[in-house]
Amino acid sequence: MTQTHVTLNNGVKMPALGLGVFQSAPEETTGAVVTALQTGYRLIDTAAAYFNEREVGEGIRRSGIDRSEIFVETKLWMSDYGYDEALHGFEKSVRKLGVDQVDLLLLHQPLASDFGKTIAAYQAIETLLTDGRVRAIGVSNQTPAELDELISRTGVVPAVNQIQVHPYYTQPQWRAANDRHGILTQCWSPIGGAYVYRDFKKNPLEDSVITAIADKYSKTPAQVILRWHLEHGFSAIPKSVKAHRIAENFDVFDFALTTGEIAEIDALDTGVRGGPDPDSLNLASHGFVIPE
Ligand SMILES: NC(=O)c1ccc[n+]([C@@H]2O[C@H](COP(=O)([O-])OP(=O)(O)OC[C@H]3O[C@@H](n4cnc5c(N)ncnc54)[C@H](OP(=O)(O)O)[C@@H]3O)[C@@H](O)[C@H]2O)c1
Repeated sequence: MTQTHVTLNNGVKMPALGLGVFQSAPEETTGAVVTALQTGYRLIDTAAAYFNEREVGEGIRRSGIDRSEIFVETKLWMSDYGYDEALHGFEKSVRKLGVDQVDLLLLHQPLASDFGKTIAAYQAIETLLTDGRVRAIGVSNQTPAELDELISRTGVVPAVNQIQVHPYYTQPQWRAANDRHGILTQCWSPIGGAYVYRDFKKNPLEDSVITAIADKYSKTPAQVILRWHLEHGFSAIPKSVKAHRIAENFDVFDFALTTGEIAEIDALDTGVRGGPDPDSLNLASHGFVIPE
């Protein structure tokens, strides 16, 4: 059976499978977090820019699970990049979450138009790591070239690069860059949400290769895809606000895919990302302010 945990490059253990809460409406988020934690999830992925950190914190407290057993991950938004700004952004997040320490703190996006600010924000989260305010730090949506530059200009290799990965967008070059640096690939839109939200004609959950494997194991397409992530050694953070799907997405530890099946799913890659090129986001287009 695939490990239920992954070990980050600084030795911190993280659950491989977690709940994502992007586009979970605030009024649905607390319930989703409580359901997930009571189902067995121990990793929650949120972000300042999801505007639901307060509700995530409330879900953690209401779950009855001890805080020490839960791996809380959040992300700083680009409008809080710069050294002092990032420290302030972190304080906003912990205040909303109601926690003293964050288990994993990421920079949500590279600010390609002003990478110096991205570097300064990363240096700030290095300070938070040194001070014990966070247990691990990382990035999201960073290209191989951006990773090289960040690593050459800072002191701590990111523990994680959270990127879009699902069977229709498998990102082999970005994953290889992460591997080269010993960075864990954490997969967003793991079951293809970025395709579904944007009304692509193709949905990996309906792919005949996936549905045939699902039939073979009496599993659902989402479970097969999530199993594929685990077989690759990724972390994956599927989002749902529906109790039955939250449970379904976690019921993936009682079967395994063959090497051939993993290769069949790998071969579904289209090379087409759902959503914009991360490097196209800038403060003019996405510089909204994160409230206190
Ligand atoms: N770093 C980044 O830039 C970035 C970007 C996007 C996402 N993320 C993170 O990654 C997480 C997941 O990504 P995502 O939300 O884009 O996509 P996803 O998890 O691949 O898909 C979510 C969508 O699938 C539905 N769904 C969930 N479980 C299902 C199942 N078993 N069967 C059928 N449909 C199912 C959900 O609807 P219901 O809720 O109605 O069930 C939702 O519409 C986010 O929540 C966030 O934490 C990060």
